[in-house]
Amino acid sequence: NLVSQSTRTIGVLVPDLSNAFFTSFIRGIQTRAKVDQFVPLILETNRNEELERDYVQELVQRTANGIIISSAAITSDTIDNLLKPNHIPYILFDQNTLTSGDRVDINEHEGGRLAAQHLIELGHRQVAIMMPKQATLNIQARYTGFCAEFQKIGELPKTVLSDMTPQAGYSAADTVRKLGVSAVFAINDEMAIGLMKGLKDAKVSVPEQVSVIGYDDVEMGAYVTPMLTTIHQPIYEMGVEAAKLLVDRIHQPDAPYESLMLPVSLVVRQSTRRRE
Ligand code: RIB
Repeated sequence: NLVSQSTRTIGVLVPDLSNAFFTSFIRGIQTRAKVDQFVPLILETNRNEELERDYVQELVQRTANGIIISSAAITSDTIDNLLKPNHIPYILFDQNTLTSGDRVDINEHEGGRLAAQHLIELGHRQVAIMMPKQATLNIQARYTGFCAEFQKIGELPKTVLSDMTPQAGYSAADTVRKLGVSAVFAINDEMAIGLMKGLKDAKVSVPEQVSVIGYDDVEMGAYVTPMLTTIHQPIYEMGVEAAKLLVDRIHQPDAPYESLMLPVSLVVRQSTRRRE
């Protein structure tokens, strides 16, 4: 059949390869794709719309069998004009929230809510949330979930703007220190780990003076001091499920779109504690 004579290639667009979140995700894709003799072709697009479009075009020309899109900048226009006419199946994931297509999603609102609930239970009232200025919709959902929980007790978290990298988290430590909050929700682990180092260098102790909670549950979080409290995303499984959905779609192009919602959970380690 057509699929067996094809390139058996799956394109994977991710925003940032230096982040362990995306490497675990890719590992899940590769493992599942291998079962059906597909090979992933990984492309980092750095939130650049033009680059994403170029790569999608390349993948179409190279006759990839399908594409997994977790990068955010891709537009419905690219999907409608490049992917659909060429009958290339695609899966939307994570930062990409376009609705038309198969999707693997995470309950992001619940993730934000769980982070807030944990801090509230520990007695924190004056808290900050650290997130990028141009937050993608999945990140905005974490923000909304977090703030909704604090609103219930009449508090409004302060926002500290920071990119989702360790360097940016490190640089934001000074702002956090001056805000005088007792806890911070960093919207991803990379940022949280950078922030903890920045606070340490500024002689602010975590968790004695400031509690820090991250998001993702990348492996490194369990190997920093103090070990990072975080919200677990089933990252590897997300990759497995994305590849599975895509392979199904490659074999059954006309089946109705599917969407899958995977759960998040709180992982309590050492970077959060009861407010004195
Ligand atoms: O660490 C990368 C972050 O960006 C993750 O939280 C992931 O969900 C993505 O959107």
